[in-house]
Amino acid sequence: MNVLVTGGAGYIGSHTCVELLDQGFGVVVIDNLVNSSAKAIERIEQITGKHVDFYQEDVRNRAALDRIFEKHDIGCVIHFAGLKAVGESVHMPLEYYDNNLFSTVRLCEAMRDHGVRDIVFSSSATVYSSENPIPWKETYITGNCTSPYGWTKYMSEQILRDTTKAVDDFSVSLLRYFNPIGAHSSGLIGEDPRGIPNNLMPFISQVAIGRRDHLNIFGNDYDTPDGTCVRDYIHVVDLARGHVAAIDYMKKHRGESVFNLGTGMGYSVLDMVKAFERVTGVKIPYEIAPRRPGDLPAFYANPDKSAKLLNWHAQYNLDDMCRDTWAWQSKNPMGYGEE
Ligand code: NAD
Ligand code: WQD
Repeated sequence: MNVLVTGGAGYIGSHTCVELLDQGFGVVVIDNLVNSSAKAIERIEQITGKHVDFYQEDVRNRAALDRIFEKHDIGCVIHFAGLKAVGESVHMPLEYYDNNLFSTVRLCEAMRDHGVRDIVFSSSATVYSSENPIPWKETYITGNCTSPYGWTKYMSEQILRDTTKAVDDFSVSLLRYFNPIGAHSSGLIGEDPRGIPNNLMPFISQVAIGRRDHLNIFGNDYDTPDGTCVRDYIHVVDLARGHVAAIDYMKKHRGESVFNLGTGMGYSVLDMVKAFERVTGVKIPYEIAPRRPGDLPAFYANPDKSAKLLNWHAQYNLDDMCRDTWAWQSKNPMGYGEE
């Protein structure tokens, strides 16, 4: 079966392409490279020894989608394409709503019109309301999002649910990711943020390689064991495998499904710094900085539903995540070199 991967040149998309190709799927990628490099596609081919059909196009371009669906026999879509910087979305809400919502709408229209019925969607733990007790379950309340980015995920989920109700046999698997980190063990693909990294792990690895002189830890006075925020970090390869499991699940279970993709374990910012130092032997200088607005003290997944219904479990531990992040960063100090 051929899978259309939107945003397949990006961080999570590229790792998912590798898993799909390794498991015998054909892969067609559409990505406008707004936050990625065509080199990622070459590296996917290098790792797997298989070909990727790549289209440098915007998912909002309906004519481009039509051409792709006409040319390839697509059995399923995985929709990663989107803008994802939380802080940027606060300053550029219209660009985020335009990109993330219209891409989802155009894609659903094209799927409806070309008879493609299965879609896996990159949702996020950010859709859960902060009032929920932790660990978060799929049944918990969503909404009260703290950024336009978060609202685009919440609204895209709704667009996909409504399409599932309206279009005969349409099925969606909404995957809510926690905090993906790490890289493929080859060190050939990985996370390559443009500009100053927003997320913790790319910042730590850029300090380690000497691109930044120290890490700012945003707050050490939270009500957590060591005062720094706690998150559920998940290896990107485990996350990628969750998508393959979701495709499999949809073969037998039609309609809407929602799954958390997390490990169920919470680690603090200081835990992450210490683990990275222990695994790599590289010291990470840090300073305690003020809290970052919008950060929650702690959240992590309850992954029981994914374990039970997808038969999916995260296999990699924190040391694996640090080792593979470092393999990527040390082999590619400037990422794909697109900055
Ligand atoms: P990424 O930026 O590396 O990948 C997204 C890809 O989509 C990029 O290659 C970008 O060029 C492409 N893209 C964006 N808009 C497009 C458009 N209109 N048309 C075509 N291509 C477009 O980000 P990622 O970390 O790989 O995230 C993938 C998805 O997972 C995103 O939807 C993101 O919101 C979601 N997600 C990410 C995280 C995370 O922490 N990385 C967590 C939860 C959810
Ligand atoms: C983790 C912890 C920071 C950077 C974000 C999005 C979420 C999801 C994943 C897409 C926090 C601290 C960070 C730094 C630090 N993305 N930190 N210094 O905020 O849990 O989640 O990415 O859906 O929606 O909000 O991840 O990696 O930014 O931060 O101290 O330089 O590291 O305060 O406690 P976050 P993160």
